[in-house]
Amino acid sequence: MKKILVTRKLIKDSEEKALKLFDAKFNSNDELYSQSKLIELSEGQDAILTSLTDKMDGDTINKLPNTIKVISNFAVGFGNIDLEAAKKRGIAVTNTPEVLSDATAEIGILLILGACRRVSEGIQSAKESNWKWSADYLIGKQLTGTRLGILGMGRIGQKIAKIAKALGMVVHYHNRSKLSEEKEQGATYHDSLKGLFEVSDVLSICCPATKETENLINKQTLEYFPTGAVITNVARGDIVDDEALIDALNRRKIYAAGLDVYKGEPNLNPGYLKIKSVFILPHLGSATKHTRIAMANLAVDNIDEFFRTGNCTNKVN
Ligand code: GLV
Repeated sequence: MKKILVTRKLIKDSEEKALKLFDAKFNSNDELYSQSKLIELSEGQDAILTSLTDKMDGDTINKLPNTIKVISNFAVGFGNIDLEAAKKRGIAVTNTPEVLSDATAEIGILLILGACRRVSEGIQSAKESNWKWSADYLIGKQLTGTRLGILGMGRIGQKIAKIAKALGMVVHYHNRSKLSEEKEQGATYHDSLKGLFEVSDVLSICCPATKETENLINKQTLEYFPTGAVITNVARGDIVDDEALIDALNRRKIYAAGLDVYKGEPNLNPGYLKIKSVFILPHLGSATKHTRIAMANLAVDNIDEFFRTGNCTNKVN
């Protein structure tokens, strides 16, 4: 039986599944391992099932024992892993696409609603019981008829587009390539970022974090948006230059933001906390029981597939 190290505690069903296939070492206290502890615990293992909280940078990967053949990330994103360093060492890296698209799209829509309809301020006032209804009290932005720009029209982007359309939003998108008409579902393609941002009353960031997308939302690109636009991010914090977005929010160039992901999580830039129009969540994209089990099961299956066939459909390097 192959040996695997599982770096974070999984839901019971998934740990049971892992035990059926592997000699699995679990983290019953759900301790956040340091890089040196993770390297030490990898000794004698054949694979590591990592999560997005594990920083698998080049240095860590280079120090892993030679027995490690697979790093199976319990996430669709893999910005926490240096793919090239893994490839150089002959280590396959896999991810968990598709199974989390519905849950993440739900949070993507929640961010849009939360930011547009001033939900943070509403919750605060309701809790303090200090509000008085009036015709113009906590007036927000209605979604019906509003233009939604989707940055990255992959599986999650397409699901957000479908729900947004049902809410009466007019969908535009930018992607590395134009989608087929069937996948576009009436959305308008823009071949440039500028083209998309200029027509986005609301932006939903759904693209992966890569070297190319790092700080894509910055001082310059924020100026492309119509004044009073709303920025939401369900993808990764690295895509946004926080200082630039905070400044644009303070200047009211940007009306509101809805964020589920942050640079340097869980420590978000304190500037966001001072702005009433920011609706924030603690990285809940895939956080439903159904989805977390499906993701962990897929992460286990990815390792199994690799050892059975020498390859894996969800290999990303
Ligand atoms: C969640 O953020 C994931 O990448 O799976």
